[in-house]
Amino acid sequence: MSVIFPNGFVWGVASAAHQIEGGNWNNDWWAFEHQPGTPCKEPSGDCCDSYHRYAEDIALVREFGFGSYRFSIEWSRIEPEDGEFSRAALDYYRRVLAECHQQGVLPVVTFHHFTTPRWMAALGGWESGLVVDRFARFCERAAGALGDLVSMGCTINEPNALSIVGYVLGAFPPGRSDFDAYARVNANLIAAHRRAYDVLKAGPGDFPVGITVAMGDWWAPDDGQEVLAKARHTHEGQFLEAARGDDFVGVQAYSRTRLDARGMPLGPADGVDLVPSMGYEYWPQALEVSIRYAADTARTPIYVTENGLGHDDDTRRIAFVTDALHGLDRCLADGIDVRGYFYWSLTDNFEWAFGYGPRFGLVEVDRTTFVRTPKPSAAWLGAIARANRIDT
Ligand code: GAL
Repeated sequence: MSVIFPNGFVWGVASAAHQIEGGNWNNDWWAFEHQPGTPCKEPSGDCCDSYHRYAEDIALVREFGFGSYRFSIEWSRIEPEDGEFSRAALDYYRRVLAECHQQGVLPVVTFHHFTTPRWMAALGGWESGLVVDRFARFCERAAGALGDLVSMGCTINEPNALSIVGYVLGAFPPGRSDFDAYARVNANLIAAHRRAYDVLKAGPGDFPVGITVAMGDWWAPDDGQEVLAKARHTHEGQFLEAARGDDFVGVQAYSRTRLDARGMPLGPADGVDLVPSMGYEYWPQALEVSIRYAADTARTPIYVTENGLGHDDDTRRIAFVTDALHGLDRCLADGIDVRGYFYWSLTDNFEWAFGYGPRFGLVEVDRTTFVRTPKPSAAWLGAIARANRIDT
């Protein structure tokens, strides 16, 4: 079946500083990776050495045929101590942004992608109300130096994943399990997003700004529907509501969450294929469901800012994205304003507590030489991006 996407539909790939740059030692994640007793499989180390090899990465994005590259700037490099800003780090990210423009790739900048400077973590991290001002000040300084080169801005990546995984499941820093802290963190994340939105819109530059939300499909038995609606609102809905009035919301979807009638997680269903590296269900349907819920709740234009598959078998990646894109097309056919699709991720990279096991990349990276080798899915998705249509 052929699908032609709307004119101007944005095709891109996504990444994040701590997962690709290497040597990001001054944030809470690096500390967590080296702390005994955490679920981290291995430290992030040199990652893909993208800190030095960014021009090569941007060239791959362009060569495959994507018009846009989403990446994050690292707060702990730009503000290595409270109130102490690094001109050199800001200049560095200016060079990255300039390189994107020079190569004809539009840069989408995420201002916070899971990592928080060590000094901010020591002040109480996302649980402390101080973070709202500190993050706004960081955004102001970063946008002041870089804003004229930014094409689109994401304030905070998956605040809802940061809070639930860090403060309930214990697999992100600070590795806690405390529902009161979780509620405080959610409130601070939402307040920080709102402040950051205003700061970024004040210029320099004039780019669309939004937040990106971790989403998915949801299932519960018939007698669990009320509990499910509540859980979904806590995890996704309150963040989507906080995005009302923004220029867009970023939908990021990978799989499905199943709950029992009391709202406790059930794990994968019998008979459903798994994504072995992540332990969750192979569920390309997640994207369509997430777009529809985001459109109903946030009532803003939508970009799919992440979708992808962490699988060693690249043919599974192509099948997954094909199904996801057909779901996206059904949303377009129903009149939902979806403006772009970013595949996660350009390269195989550091997948947080899972380490380097899961391989989401369109490009393989040799772990000792950093040589990049594109997988067949890179040319496949790049051709779809160039043609702005899919024929399978
Ligand atoms: C998202 C996250 C990314 C990446 C991806 C794949 O939750 O924003 O950093 O890890 O999942 O699992």
